[in-house]
Amino acid sequence: MTTAEITTMHEEIRELARARDAVILAHNYQVPEVQDVADFVGDSLGLSHEAARTDAEAIAFCGVHFMAETAAILCPEKTVLIPDLDAGCSLAASITADQLRTWKAENPGAVVVSYVNTTAEVKAESDYCCTSGNAKAIIESIPEDTEILFLPDMYLGLWLEKVTGRTLRIWMGECHVHAGIRPADIQRWQDEAPDAELLVHPECGCASQCMAFGNGKTHILSTEGMIKFARKSPKERFLVATETGIIHRLNKEAPEKRFEAVSEKAICRYMKMITLEKLRDSLRDWKYVVTVPPEVAERARGAIDRMVAIV
Ligand code: 13P
Ligand code: SF4
Repeated sequence: MTTAEITTMHEEIRELARARDAVILAHNYQVPEVQDVADFVGDSLGLSHEAARTDAEAIAFCGVHFMAETAAILCPEKTVLIPDLDAGCSLAASITADQLRTWKAENPGAVVVSYVNTTAEVKAESDYCCTSGNAKAIIESIPEDTEILFLPDMYLGLWLEKVTGRTLRIWMGECHVHAGIRPADIQRWQDEAPDAELLVHPECGCASQCMAFGNGKTHILSTEGMIKFARKSPKERFLVATETGIIHRLNKEAPEKRFEAVSEKAICRYMKMITLEKLRDSLRDWKYVVTVPPEVAERARGAIDRMVAIV
């Protein structure tokens, strides 16, 4: 699309959002032109907070399906739209509610902490939900002598064990995008840019090894954590180990600094399914409405409420 076409489409979308009384939320991994038309761009936790606090009648969710489901559970009286129903998440697909029920039966008395990247049915079987932005605080809020089943991301789980000193039972799921960021990608960049700060998402396959660098220049952060860190830091150059969509947001928030993805291949095809055309059609044709069966939503709400309460 040309710049002029993007501007025209932005105007059309903003007009539809106004007429429909819809707020547009976009995740940090969305394509630049979708981020630029949104009312709010953020990480999973920030988007949940925005969904919970909006006065708008509807939420157009530019992200993946589990995020829209979480918004639908937090705001049962609002209409939640996702521009493409196929925008899923390979990590959320790595555990089903049946598998979790079996795991719980094998570990009676354990507390279940689920990463937000899970289906509503899995959340309904969970005691706590967390995001990368508050996972450490959630684990630390649970009494030391309580056994914890952590799911579904094994790398996030291993990182949590390191930073909390706790032993967790960890589900062996992974995100194909972050698991694909290899220690060799990090090493290559460390060799080429030894003075740069390294920002690493805890879902990365290399997160725990990166912590071991102990050089004061490696920071394991949620996507929004990376943005806050880069804004405040006096440093000028940053290597970024997460989905490449965040580079646009970082450039906008800290234009005087330099950001480079450690792997240009770290692209989430689900996040990239959302386009301006689909967002326009979504608002115009009122599709696709994301709903969660009330009995599932009721059971999932407790875990999600704990997630939004602990920052
Ligand atoms: P954040 O909550 O850090 O934005 O991460 C969401 C996600 O899907 C990471 O792959
Ligand atoms: Fe899911 Fe990975 Fe895409 Fe995040 S980057 S939405 S965890 S598939």
